[in-house]
Amino acid sequence: MKLIKVKNYEEMSRTAADLFLAQVKEKPASVLGLATGSSPVGLYKNLAASGADFSQVITVNLDEYCGLAPGNPQSYRYFMNENLFSNININQANTHIPDGTAANPDAEAERYEELIRSLGGIDLQLLGMGHNGHIGFNEPDEEFAADTHRVYLAEQTIKANSRFFESPEEVPTSAVTMGIKTIMQAKKIIVIASGSEKTNILKKALYGAITPRVPASVLQLHWDLTVVTDCLG
Ligand code: GLP
Repeated sequence: MKLIKVKNYEEMSRTAADLFLAQVKEKPASVLGLATGSSPVGLYKNLAASGADFSQVITVNLDEYCGLAPGNPQSYRYFMNENLFSNININQANTHIPDGTAANPDAEAERYEELIRSLGGIDLQLLGMGHNGHIGFNEPDEEFAADTHRVYLAEQTIKANSRFFESPEEVPTSAVTMGIKTIMQAKKIIVIASGSEKTNILKKALYGAITPRVPASVLQLHWDLTVVTDCLG
């Protein structure tokens, strides 16, 4: 693991953006695995401001809420369009996110897993971290879920994510997420974490026991992991 300690959110965003820009420069047709949440917003701003060429880039997002259409401002598709895709010269047809409106989320999960495989896998995957150690929407569990699958969200996640909704009742209770194997097969992974409230879970994930109770702990086993954080002093 490569640990890059930074002073604050701005430095984390710049540093992580530089790693993504280097990837795209080296391989213009990179498959980038992208994430949502508040952590990547600054990184995406830096990518947009760079004026870099994303015309050949392909993106696959980690997850999407079940039941939310792309036009819903709380959907991850909407978030990605607003925060990144509309601000760079990417071909929209090359941006992939699970379909939250799919009538059969299990079939949608299978389609998405197959799509990633057909793209030749992910060159560089971005991850934020939930307060309970979830990555994508892989919640603490008895075992690591391998492939893209439908997941029912933990109470803590619904509560944490309710800040983006009018009330916790509006937060969807399930999502389609890349699985742990899908994520672990990415050639490179970058984790970003900012703010003192992430310190404990980040320490647990990076230095604690490797257990599905802390899904992010599996990242200790990845062959090319970079962590960019202001959480570790
Ligand atoms: C959501 C997303 C995760 C993200 C997490 C953390 O649950 N599904 O991919 O990492 O939120 O969000 P934040 O960056 O806002 O702390």
